[in-house]
This record gives sequence, structure tokens and C-alpha cells, in this order.
Amino acid sequence: MVRPPSQDRIRRHWDRQSVGYDRKMDSAERMFGDTRDWVCRQAVGQVLEVAVGTGLNLDRYPAHATLTAMDLSPAMLDHARRHAAELGRAVDLRVGDAQHLEFDDASFDTVVCTFGLCAVPDDEGAVGEMVRVLRPGGLLLLADHVVSTSAPLRMLQAVAEVYSVRFQSEHFRRRPLLHVEAAGLTVERHDRFNRGIIERLAARKPVTPP
Ligand SMILES: C[S@@+](CC[C@H](N)C(=O)[O-])C[C@H]1O[C@@H](n2cnc3c(N)ncnc32)[C@H](O)[C@@H]1O
Repeated sequence: MVRPPSQDRIRRHWDRQSVGYDRKMDSAERMFGDTRDWVCRQAVGQVLEVAVGTGLNLDRYPAHATLTAMDLSPAMLDHARRHAAELGRAVDLRVGDAQHLEFDDASFDTVVCTFGLCAVPDDEGAVGEMVRVLRPGGLLLLADHVVSTSAPLRMLQAVAEVYSVRFQSEHFRRRPLLHVEAAGLTVERHDRFNRGIIERLAARKPVTPP
């Protein structure tokens, strides 16, 4: 197994990526389809966005949602802060680690993460943290690029990971859905498209523990 880089190195990578990130994402956005809107329009109440990046989702949340967002990279958060100010949207933005969220148990109605779990070394641990801070009956909304359903593309993804995991902690062959199901949440809506590479889901935390 390829070892991911240290947390400091991952942070520095994303600090550097923050410049020009939105422009670079332009072409990828076509592949995501309406995923950002699909995710954000389902968010209600107290919302936590994990690995918010430059805040590309911020303009898509319903006006009634109260937003808290976190990311490992202070530079990505600086962009998100500017984005929120331009939108006139109040967002509590914090530096943190998705693998150890600083929030109390059951403190959010909705937890969102888009294209963030691919970058976190321990994605299963991060899903566990998202479930912990979600209130019973709350909604977890995830979207990411995952392992393809096409064998040739899976081979390309495996080759790409030899570099990307070691130097950027960027994973191409994950399935966060499996961690969500293992955590006992009920998947209410789920889509997978573009040769299985884009996957999005809405999953409910049970009111009583499984
Ligand atoms: C591909 S970007 C996605 C950004 C944003 N969610 C989006 O949809 O455009 C991945 C983000 O994950 C953040 N990240 C990486 N490791 C993290 C961690 N352990 N905890 C929190 N954020 C992390 C990076 O700083 C970066 O902003």
C-alpha cells in the first residue's frame, strides 16, 4: 500500500492549489453534472460542510440553512471567506482536520462533503466523524469521484494513484458509500454516473442507534 504524505505536506499542497483552484475545477465541473446543486438543495438546519475548499458550494445552499464549514488548508479557507463575503452569506469557517472534527456529538442537522474524502488519508475515519457530529435523524450528503465501473478506467486510476496518493494524498479508487452503510446509516438517495466515477448519496442517521 502507498503511504500518504504527512498532514503538513498535504496542507502545503492545498495551500498552493488554492490559487487557480476554481479555474482548474471548471472543466471537472462538467463531469460532475448538477452534483453540487443536488447535494446543497437537500441541506437543512445547522449545516456543516467538511473540506469546504474555496467554497464552491456556498452559493447553492438554501437561504434558511445556517452554515459552518471547515478545511485543513488556511489558504483554501481564505478563498472561501472571500467567496462568502461576496455572497453576503454568513459562514463560520474554521481550520481543522476531517479525521478529528472539533465539534460535539450530534451538533448538526446536515453534514456535507463534496470531492473532499478523496483527499483525506483516512476516509473511513472521516466518515465516522461526520456521523458522530450528525444528530440522530440528520442527513449526510456526500459526493466524490470514486473507482470506475469500467475495467480500463480502473487500471488508469490505479496507475494515477501511484503518484497522486504518495505526493498529494489524492485517491481515485474509493467508495465512501461502503463506509456510510457500514456506519448503519440508511441510504435514501444514490446516483453513480460517468462510468461510475461520480457517486453521490444522501443517507439518514438512525434515530435510535443500530
Ligand atoms: C479537491 S478539494 C475539494 C474542495 C471542495 N470540497 C470542493 O467541492 O470543491 C479537497 C479539499 O480537501 C481538503 N482537505 C484535505 N485533507 C483534509 C483534512 N484532513 N481535513 C479537512 N480538509 C482536508 C483540502 O484542503 C481541499 O480543500
